[in-house]
Amino acid sequence: MIYLKTPEEIEKMQRACDLVSRTLGEVAKHVAPGVTTHKLDSVAREFIMDNGGKPACLGYGGFPGTLCIEVNETVVHGFPSNYALREGDIVGLDCVVELDGYNGDQCYTFPVGEIAPEVMALCQTTKESLYRGIAACKEGKRIGDISNAIQTFCEQRGYTVVREMCGHGIGRKMHEDPEVPNYGRRGIGPLIKNGMCIAIEPMINLGSKNIVIERDGWTCRTRDRKPSAHYEHTVAILDNTTRILTTFDYIEEVLGDRFI
Ligand code: MF3
Ligand code: CO
Repeated sequence: MIYLKTPEEIEKMQRACDLVSRTLGEVAKHVAPGVTTHKLDSVAREFIMDNGGKPACLGYGGFPGTLCIEVNETVVHGFPSNYALREGDIVGLDCVVELDGYNGDQCYTFPVGEIAPEVMALCQTTKESLYRGIAACKEGKRIGDISNAIQTFCEQRGYTVVREMCGHGIGRKMHEDPEVPNYGRRGIGPLIKNGMCIAIEPMINLGSKNIVIERDGWTCRTRDRKPSAHYEHTVAILDNTTRILTTFDYIEEVLGDRFI
């Protein structure tokens, strides 16, 4: 069941999205070699709570963090830990904030110091594919148009698309219908309508598309242990226009010339 939102609800979604974007901007100040992922998680949790929000991932189905931590081969849903980031790592930080009953969801993959050119290119392509997906997300089109735009863009550049994890509708709940796969055919799937709010989140691999779930039941990594990148925005369709509710501006202001 897809819940279409009123303009008033989309305004609340916008506020939740602003907070998640500012949260990742705050966390961005701490991403550096030697910093533990626990530390990043605490910064996020405190910032969200100081601003009246709720860290929506914390305790969700038993998940132990405010952030999902995605170091190198981790695709999604890694736990915060005492792992200290190392020069050359990439780390995806995926965060959901609930504010006034509505959720905002965003992810950014950060470079830690200097990263290998092929890994930088993976990140750049994944981020660009998110914007290609958003450009294909238009009132009157279908979810498959988004999926196909992402898949085509990434595969043409020699990368692979994770199949098992998808974007999703979002609103009062973090995960609502419809599913938004990152691969698929144009013209299939649910119609995109005014009032729809969805999180679009390509997860793109340097090597093969295959993944495994670790024994903790959550951490999803590439089977070949090659790197994976992940970027995510929450968008809403209002007045026949697609609005990106989250922003990377706070993050990229902090990263300066190190942005992806
Ligand atoms: N932010 C993730 C997503 O994009 C979900 C986090 S799963 C959780 O869908 F369990 F950690 F909350
Ligand atoms: Co999401």
